[in-house]
Amino acid sequence: MEGKNILCDINEGIATVTVNRPESLNALNSEVLNELECILYGLEQDNSVQVVILTGAGEKAFVAGADIKEMVAMNSYQGHQFAIQGQRLMLFMEKMSKPVIAAVNGYALGGGLELALACDVIYASDNARFGFPEVTLGIIPGFGGTQNLARLIGPAKAKELVFSGRMIPAAKAHAWGIANEVCTQAELAAKALALAREIAKNGRLGVGYAKNAIVNGLNMTKEDGFRYESSLFGVLFATEDQKEGMGAFVEKRKAEFKGK
Ligand code: CAA
Repeated sequence: MEGKNILCDINEGIATVTVNRPESLNALNSEVLNELECILYGLEQDNSVQVVILTGAGEKAFVAGADIKEMVAMNSYQGHQFAIQGQRLMLFMEKMSKPVIAAVNGYALGGGLELALACDVIYASDNARFGFPEVTLGIIPGFGGTQNLARLIGPAKAKELVFSGRMIPAAKAHAWGIANEVCTQAELAAKALALAREIAKNGRLGVGYAKNAIVNGLNMTKEDGFRYESSLFGVLFATEDQKEGMGAFVEKRKAEFKGK
């Protein structure tokens, strides 16, 4: 399951998806967006996959943004359609039941930061740089960045980053709550894999419902979110995974979840 610009390796329930255009610092053109959408859609359907790791090829960039060389000639209609295409991918990633971990191994700029923000967890290498340079190009973030960043770190810090167009280092992204963890570039793949393995040991229905509750609950009032959470909690009691997980605890053995 690979595309011209995307590598995908599946091992022990963990899919590693790599944007592979290092000559363009993995910039997202419409072809890359299409391939990413197809591959992630396939991984969501694939029962053998429990967690996805998303990263960029090479040592310089995760993704250095949407492809400026493709956008330079776009008219207003095409710009709008391009943003909708990118946003569809970001929204799909939120809707996926499987957690997606971003392993940010260098520049995460513009559409690249938007891609990382659409992931559930961001691990970054200490050479990573985060930013929204769109205003330096006369545009604004268009793949959900204004919305996702302000919701994640609050409007004041989001405005500082978006209005200035400046890049911040990984340590600051960590301090601001964008990156969950920062490590050396040499450690990054192993750290992301260790988290993926930890998650993959758990019942996939529980993990998927937890993601659903958090993502959807953020768009609800607290009371509606509580109601939504209790409904999902109740539904899980109709699953074999709940019987297995609690049965294993009582019987003092390791749970063998089946995702049913
Ligand atoms: N689109 C297209 N090509 C890109 C690119 C991008 N976003 N970012 C880098 N590249 C290309 C460069 O043009 C260059 O190609 P050539 O060798 O053919 O000239 C190659 O990748 C290597 O890049 P640099 O030589 O520029 O590398 P550097 O180390 O000197 O600089 C950088 C690295 C600071 C990241 C610089 O490449 C840069 O500023 N890139 C653009 C970042 C940017 O503005 N991203 C936001 C795009 S807009 C957007 O994403 C809109 C949205 O929200 C949807």
